[in-house]
Amino acid sequence: MTLPDRVEIVEVGLRDGLQIESEFVPTDTKVDILHALIDAGVRHFEATSFVSPRAVPQMRDAIDVLAGVRKQPGVVLSALAPNRKGVERALESEADEVVVFLSATESHNLKNLNRPIEQSLRDIEEIAELLKDKPLKRKGAIAVAFGCPFEGDVDLGTIKTIFNRFVDLGFNAVTLGDTTGMATPKLVRQTVEALRAEAPDMKISLHFHNTRGIGLVNVVEGLRAGITSYESSLAGLGGCPFAPGATGNICTEDLVYLLDEMGIDSGIDLQALIRIAQRLEGVVGRRLPGQLMKAGPRLNLHDVHAATAAVG
Ligand code: COA
Ligand code: ZN
Repeated sequence: MTLPDRVEIVEVGLRDGLQIESEFVPTDTKVDILHALIDAGVRHFEATSFVSPRAVPQMRDAIDVLAGVRKQPGVVLSALAPNRKGVERALESEADEVVVFLSATESHNLKNLNRPIEQSLRDIEEIAELLKDKPLKRKGAIAVAFGCPFEGDVDLGTIKTIFNRFVDLGFNAVTLGDTTGMATPKLVRQTVEALRAEAPDMKISLHFHNTRGIGLVNVVEGLRAGITSYESSLAGLGGCPFAPGATGNICTEDLVYLLDEMGIDSGIDLQALIRIAQRLEGVVGRRLPGQLMKAGPRLNLHDVHAATAAVG
C-alpha cells in the first residue's frame, strides 16, 4: 500500500465552522484569521458562502471577507454558492473558486436548498453555462454523501448521477461531504472506488465531520484509497444548521498532526495552527473540540518535578 507524500488541506472553518455560530463574528476578525492561516501555510480556503442571509446570517459579509484578504500567489479563496444568485454574487467577488452544492437525498436537499434534487441538477446546468469562459474554478459538493440524518443510507446510484453531472459539466473537482458524520471507512472505500470507476481523472475531495469520533479514521481510509484533498476546520468548529445533530468538522490541527506523524506533507506549520486555534476559542467564547491545542504534539514533554505524584 502506498500513501500519498503530500496532501492538500482545504480550511473550511470560516464557512462550515462559523455558519452555525449565532453571534456574528466581525468581518475584520474573519480576515485576521484568514491572514494568520495563510502565514501558517494554509493555501486553500472555503472562506465564506453566497447564500441567503436569512438562511445563514453569519455569511452576510461574504463579499467583504473576500475583498479583505490580501492577494498572495498560490492562495485559493473558495466560496460556497447554492444557486444561480449565489454564483452571480461570487462572480462579482474576489473569489477564485466557487463551490456549487446539493444533497444526495431528497429530504436533505429540501431542508438545505428548498428544492428537489432534479431541480438542483437543472440549476447546476444553468450555473455551468453561466460560468463558461469565466476564470473562476468550479467545484461540486455532494452533501450527506455517506448517510443522511433523515433517510439513513444513501443510494450510491444517486451519488453517481450527481457526480457524473459535475463531471459532464466540466467541474474541476467534487467534494464528498459527510455532513453529519455518518461516514465509516468501509463506506469511504466503497464510494471512492465506485466514483473512480465512473471518472478516474476527476479530483475527489473528502469532507468529514467528527460527529461520531471517527473522522480521522475516515481520512486514513481516504489516504489508503489515494485521495489527496481533505476539508477540515480550525479547532474542529462547525456543523450544518440544516441537519439535526450536526457537529464540528474534523479538526485541521489534529489532521495536520496525524499527517506529520505519517510523514505526509501538508505544507502547514502545526505550532502556528495551534496558536490560531487557541485564539479562535476566544473569538467564539467557548472551548472547541480540537485535541492538539489542548494536549500539544506527543513530544511536548512535561517537567517531571512539576507533576503531581500519586504517593508523597
Ligand atoms: N444569496 C443571497 N440571497 C439569496 C440567494 C443567494 N444565493 N438566493 C436566494 N436569495 C434570496 C432571494 O433574493 C430572496 O430574497 P427576498 O425574499 O428578499 O426577495 C430569498 O432569498 C428567497 O429566494 P428563493 O430563490 O425563493 O430561495 P429559497 O427561499 O428557496 O431559499 C436558498 C433557497 C438556497 C437560497 C436558501 O435555502 C439558502 O441560502 N440555503 C443555504 C443553505 C446552506 O448554506 N447550507 C450550508 C451547507 S450545510
Ligand atoms: Zn460540512
